[in-house]
Amino acid sequence: GRGNYRHFMEKELHEHPVVIGDVLSRMIDPASRSVMLWDLPFDLATLPRATISACGSAFYAGLVGRVWLETIARLPTDADVASEFRYRAPPLPSEGLGLLVSQSGETADTLAALRYMQDEGQHVLSVVNVPESSMARESDAVLETLAGPEIGVASTKAFTAQLTVLACFALAAGRARGTLDAAREALLTQALMEVPGQAAEILSEETTAAIGRVAERIAEARDVLYLGRGSCFPVALEGALKLKEISYIHAEGYAAGEMKHGPIALIDRHVPVVAIAPSGPLFEKTASNLQEAAARGGQVIVFSDAAGAEKLKGIAAATVVLPTCDPFVAPILHTIAVQMLAYRVALLKGTDVDQPRNLAKSVTVE
Ligand code: M6R
Repeated sequence: GRGNYRHFMEKELHEHPVVIGDVLSRMIDPASRSVMLWDLPFDLATLPRATISACGSAFYAGLVGRVWLETIARLPTDADVASEFRYRAPPLPSEGLGLLVSQSGETADTLAALRYMQDEGQHVLSVVNVPESSMARESDAVLETLAGPEIGVASTKAFTAQLTVLACFALAAGRARGTLDAAREALLTQALMEVPGQAAEILSEETTAAIGRVAERIAEARDVLYLGRGSCFPVALEGALKLKEISYIHAEGYAAGEMKHGPIALIDRHVPVVAIAPSGPLFEKTASNLQEAAARGGQVIVFSDAAGAEKLKGIAAATVVLPTCDPFVAPILHTIAVQMLAYRVALLKGTDVDQPRNLAKSVTVE
């Protein structure tokens, strides 16, 4: 049951700290602060390329995974939505890695992508939440998210569990490929081990109240833009998808640097711009994109840590301060915040949060 929570989605949002902690306890050795290498039926060191395919939120988790595999393991990585990938039918290098991401393990297009990858001679690895699913059965290896049953149609804890698994996998790949030294691995595993506590801070009264205040602005809007860069660009996509799904407000996620190539024409004082702007190497670039939006009258709503929030206070119409973290884990923390934002907007709108119109939890037909 959903206990004292109003919706399964709310209950599942509050499970983030435990679910992420569970993934980490299976994948990280806290004593040596290193990722535990598990037996895989292929060699991470010699993979020529990884190809990621998935649908919906799972695809966005894959997009974050791509950034991590490229930056941490220097593994060339491609990612495409499964419904396009399966018919694009791209040639794949022999002995490459096919990586599928799915909560249910039953999504028809993702399963077809898996089979195509097998036909193309890929080693197939699936990140799935349901261990006895079709994808789990048909893969060469499985990384289980084990987030528990997710009842809300809008994915929450399964998504952050996917991110956490992919983060650990990227560390393992970096170690195997010699692109991640022990000191950096210790730093990044430490950053991951702090995430459950930081997730709990985001779910605290204080932060959810700040998110609730932002929700009041968003609930009034007809259109909302979400902006992010780098590993937080997919978080912008996830935030926009979640808002569309459960509040029925039109929202789009964009790479912040793309604004000036078109979307900025949409901006006026009626269009909130939700900025996923953690401190890190891309902060200054994001800040200047936000400046451009603010200069056109956009209401910029900043999600950042204390240092980033301070730098953006001159242009922010509202701010949600999230815990200070290593940029590596920022997409995980920011995801929790934007999912909570969508939930709070849906509450104000009075929509059917757990069973949004026109949507099914598992899309087993094409
Ligand atoms: O079961 P899957 O992870 O394969 O499902 C993929 C998508 O259908 C799913 O993530 C969908 O986008 C959710 N409703 C997102 O909240």
